[in-house]
Amino acid sequence: MKILVTGGAGYIGSHTVVELQQQGFDVVVIDNLCNSNIEVVENIGKITGIAPVFEKLDMTDQQAMLDLFGRNKYDGVIHFAALKSVPESVDKPVEYYRNNLCAMVNLLECMKVSGTGFVVFSSSCTVYGQPDVLPVSETAPVKRPWSPYGNTKRICEEMIEDFTGIAAARAISLRYFNPIGAHESSFIGELPLGIPNNLVPYITQSAIGKRGPLKVFGDDYNTPDGTAIRDYIHVVDLAKAHVKAVDRIIEEQSNSDYEVFNLGTGQGYSVLEVINSFEKVSGKKLDYEIVGRRPGDVEKVWADTVYANRELGWKAERDLDEMMLSAWNWEKAIAES
Ligand code: NAD
Ligand code: WQD
Repeated sequence: MKILVTGGAGYIGSHTVVELQQQGFDVVVIDNLCNSNIEVVENIGKITGIAPVFEKLDMTDQQAMLDLFGRNKYDGVIHFAALKSVPESVDKPVEYYRNNLCAMVNLLECMKVSGTGFVVFSSSCTVYGQPDVLPVSETAPVKRPWSPYGNTKRICEEMIEDFTGIAAARAISLRYFNPIGAHESSFIGELPLGIPNNLVPYITQSAIGKRGPLKVFGDDYNTPDGTAIRDYIHVVDLAKAHVKAVDRIIEEQSNSDYEVFNLGTGQGYSVLEVINSFEKVSGKKLDYEIVGRRPGDVEKVWADTVYANRELGWKAERDLDEMMLSAWNWEKAIAES
């Protein structure tokens, strides 16, 4: 089975390539390296013993995409490639719509022309906004996301659903909650460019001395300790779910041509609980201050995982301490390299 992994040099893509290779899939990676670097591909090879075939390619280039699919036949695609910064998307909506939507259009066109069998898509819990009911299940209404980034996820889901209605292809959208942590080898992990927007890379960079004190955005939420709650999931657990999604399609277990699954642990943690876990596993005191809420943040969200656990035969196994320890080990590995 030959799988095309778009954005496979990125954070979640690289971890998924490792899991795919370890399950015997033949993997081809494309990435334009706008938010990653080629060393990641070499580091995947250090873990698995097989450097995946890599092609530097911008998915918004329609001709380059048609050429790629003209030269090779893929059984299916896992589509990670996207721009993903929420605040940047607010400043640059056109760039986000162009990149994330044009890449999707080109991919679907290539799949149609070449008769590619399936696509697994990286979606996000951001499509739920602040859910009315928690834990949030896949049947909850999709709300128009607050950011252009989030809106590209909602629109791409709809594009894929429409596509499966006419093409002989199957698709699964995976709605990730908050992926954190790194591979246990510390050969791959998250590599944020500039000042991290996300909580965990900010914590580890602050603890290692690259950044100032963490700003905790709000302690006046309607939560037990007043800080916002998220469903953090270890990136390796997340990666393994992609293999399960591919298996489900290949083994013709899908209930319909287009399916959606939540990928979370089902357990919510507050910002202060994440900080406590970090301090426990690292043995370091984190310097932080409470500031006002961050615009656009939801108060609390965590996944109903019943459907994904049952249908994918998958369950997140790594707990918060393991997530924070792997994130910290990764930060230290970067510092030593
Ligand atoms: P990432 O930035 O590390 O990886 C994305 C990769 O796509 C990068 O290597 C980048 O260079 C590449 N890319 C972007 N635009 C491209 C283009 N036009 N052509 C070719 N390559 C391109 O991000 P990630 O955290 O690994 O996220 C992967 C996917 O998961 C994204 O679609 C993201 O929106 C989604 N997602 C991420 C999170 C998260 O918190 N990290 C949560 C929910 C969903
Ligand atoms: C987690 C919590 C912050 C930074 C974003 C996207 C979402 C998804 C994942 C892709 C929140 C708090 C954070 C800091 C803080 N990405 N925080 N100080 O906001 O849940 O989700 O990334 O799809 O679409 O919106 O994740 O890691 O930024 O924040 O207090 O310096 O940590 O307020 O409560 P978020 P995050």
